[in-house]
Amino acid sequence: MALARFIRSCEEISPRLLTLDPDIVAPLCTDWTRRVTGHALGLARPSNEAELAAVVEAAVEAEIHLQLQGGNTSLVAGATPWGDSVLLSSARLREVGDPDLTSLSITAEAGATAAEVNAALAPHRLKLGVDLASRESATIGGMVATNAGGIHVVRYGPMRSQLLGLRLVTPAQGAIGRLSPLYKDNTGPDLAAIAAGSEGTLGAVAAAALKAVPILEESVVALLSFGSFSAAAEGARRIRRSPAVSALEFMTHAGMDLVSRHLGRELPLAGAVYLLAEFESAFPLLDHVVEVVEDSVPSTSALAFDARGRAELWRWREAHTEAIATAGIAHKMDVALPIASLEEFVSWVEGPFAAENPELDVYLFGHLGDGNVHVNLVGAEPDDLSPDEAVLAKAASMGGSISAEHGIGRLKAPLVHLVRTQAEIDAIAALKAAFDPDGILNPGVLLPTPKGRHATENLAPGRLA
Ligand code: MLT
Ligand code: ZN
Repeated sequence: MALARFIRSCEEISPRLLTLDPDIVAPLCTDWTRRVTGHALGLARPSNEAELAAVVEAAVEAEIHLQLQGGNTSLVAGATPWGDSVLLSSARLREVGDPDLTSLSITAEAGATAAEVNAALAPHRLKLGVDLASRESATIGGMVATNAGGIHVVRYGPMRSQLLGLRLVTPAQGAIGRLSPLYKDNTGPDLAAIAAGSEGTLGAVAAAALKAVPILEESVVALLSFGSFSAAAEGARRIRRSPAVSALEFMTHAGMDLVSRHLGRELPLAGAVYLLAEFESAFPLLDHVVEVVEDSVPSTSALAFDARGRAELWRWREAHTEAIATAGIAHKMDVALPIASLEEFVSWVEGPFAAENPELDVYLFGHLGDGNVHVNLVGAEPDDLSPDEAVLAKAASMGGSISAEHGIGRLKAPLVHLVRTQAEIDAIAALKAAFDPDGILNPGVLLPTPKGRHATENLAPGRLA
């Protein structure tokens, strides 16, 4: 009955709004890692904010759960639908405004990809401050919802720091917020900042006004190899002091070797641990970069100054995700540590943890400059949470976070208690209740559902339905 009512409402909003065609809906029900497969009753694709608000209102009236989805690039099943949900996609919310060259900003609807927004900015020698490997499919709405980080956080901060305005559709308040690009607005709590990182549990992003940063003419990428993580961490400590650093990433031999086989290319440098550092400036960089690289004492290094060379070095870092995916269904843990504790954490994963779990292939890489390690484990059963829990508990015990940038999604919802007290969880639940009192949006994401059903029961492929 509820579904029939929802279908009728959607038809009234627009005859092309909702599809129930399983050939269209089913492919959207598996997360990017293939670890979780769900099921959805249908797919709603609003074409503008008014339609988006009307769908959310119809869902509230019919008591239908909505699972928000952008580019479906979540690595924690944050966009995977659950049982009785309808997918609410931003695929038709694609408009990108003209860059505002006075305030250095741009407005984009939720379904525009990062690459599309950058394409609009590039002729003006501008770009978004956030960049990530999935730039061709990751959408602005999803990036705001997860407070996406990526490769330039060390310089520009995450998605929350890029927000100058936001339009959000919530079940309780309808469409709220502004798009005028304000660098300062202290009119009480910042609703845009609260929505960023709430993983679509408070509202659906309709559009965002984002900062644009200048594309700097001088750019150098350095790939450096080291004999140990400890040596690389010391090198990174020195590189991080350079005012020109715009990315500071790390990889280990295991991942580089996998990428080498995946791409069919020889490793460019031999080493146990690698750093990839990007330097950008409006002023000549050569002498500065050579000095910084020498000071970091690598075993070997390769520098690239032209666009093609830079892209080739970046490929060694950015191909990690796809190369690991070809090795199997990875358990992906995205932890943040105090930077001073990174070495101890990595030694634990590669030492005692790996020894206790010899069946697992361990691939570590990430954003060293942000203290963000991506722990990828291949060889565990998709619904076995124990390796995830061990790694995340270790990070938590060291004062870290169980999610640096990927979010909590469904996969880590049962483990939020590792880093949040019950009082903090209650505060997050109260916020949810204020925006979405009936628990319509993204049930099971971030927090257990209002019905009390816990996300753990939803892990295995085929068990979400
Ligand atoms: C990355 O840094 O490449 C992304 O977070 C994706 C991943 O962790 O696999
Ligand atoms: Zn990352």
